Amino acid sequence: MKHLLSIEDLSRDEIEEILDTAVSMHEVQHRDIKKLPTLRGRTIINFFFEDSTRTRSSFELAGKWLSADTINLTGKGTSISKGESLRDTVMTIDAMGVDMMIIRHMASGAPAQIAQWTKCSIVNAGDGTHEHPSQALLDAYTMRNRLGDLEGKHVAMVGDLTHSRVFRSNLLCLRKLGAEVTLVAPPTLLPSGMGPWAQAEDVTVSHDLDAVLPTVDAVMMLRVQRERMSGGFFPTAREYAVTYGLTKERLRLLPDHAVICHPGPMNRGLEISGDAADAAQSLVLDQVSAGVAVRMSILYHLLSGEGTSA
Ligand code: CP
Repeated sequence: MKHLLSIEDLSRDEIEEILDTAVSMHEVQHRDIKKLPTLRGRTIINFFFEDSTRTRSSFELAGKWLSADTINLTGKGTSISKGESLRDTVMTIDAMGVDMMIIRHMASGAPAQIAQWTKCSIVNAGDGTHEHPSQALLDAYTMRNRLGDLEGKHVAMVGDLTHSRVFRSNLLCLRKLGAEVTLVAPPTLLPSGMGPWAQAEDVTVSHDLDAVLPTVDAVMMLRVQRERMSGGFFPTAREYAVTYGLTKERLRLLPDHAVICHPGPMNRGLEISGDAADAAQSLVLDQVSAGVAVRMSILYHLLSGEGTSA
């Protein structure tokens, strides 16, 4: 495996291998010895054209804890501001001899395009509304840790599905791992054509969160991405919170064993209440913690010359 561009490119065995390796990486993360020599001499560029807290810092920590040299670049501060094209920019960085570029970009497909222009490994750290594969892997890791094997488990993904790259990667990942998926969203935030598509993929679509919650093993609340809604937000924020938000009252509908996930950043009071985000069954910070271990595993599999092949 040279690149991580999409969950679509991974087999179930490859996903499970990444998750299994992350278990040992998580042990490293929580012990005194935080650094492994595995990637000594390797150089990784975090190139983020969109803002990030979790993904950028955890990829940087993952690289450092595997002893790679890591450099951070953003769109601002590079010669792109002088008119240099994306192609010339990434070919310039590649020519310096780096081993990997981790790319977040506002355009869907940008990492896949960059992979065609460069020789180094490319990791998609979130591209437009397309995919966020490392997020889906860390979400699967976190849910598997708490619920066991995800085969046959019922996961509901709730929220702004139209704009969510996390949803797209998670849907692919969860289905490959054998989970049953229900999508819950207002019709205005369900990608067009999703209805017939979901039926073909054996995925259930619902507009009734109250009916779905008692049946789940995990509920994943997704952020309402108002920054991607140039035409305004319908329903209104208030209507949305009442109808599709994981409110304090709705927590009572969840089975005792069920867990709550959110990839972050959260809009508290909109898609998730403070009570739900901080509830005992919330895995939000477990997801953050798993992010470092899973990204260490991804870097290991892509750069160590061992592990999965594709
Ligand atoms: N979940 C996620 O991608 O968060 P950041 O935008 O903070 O990286």
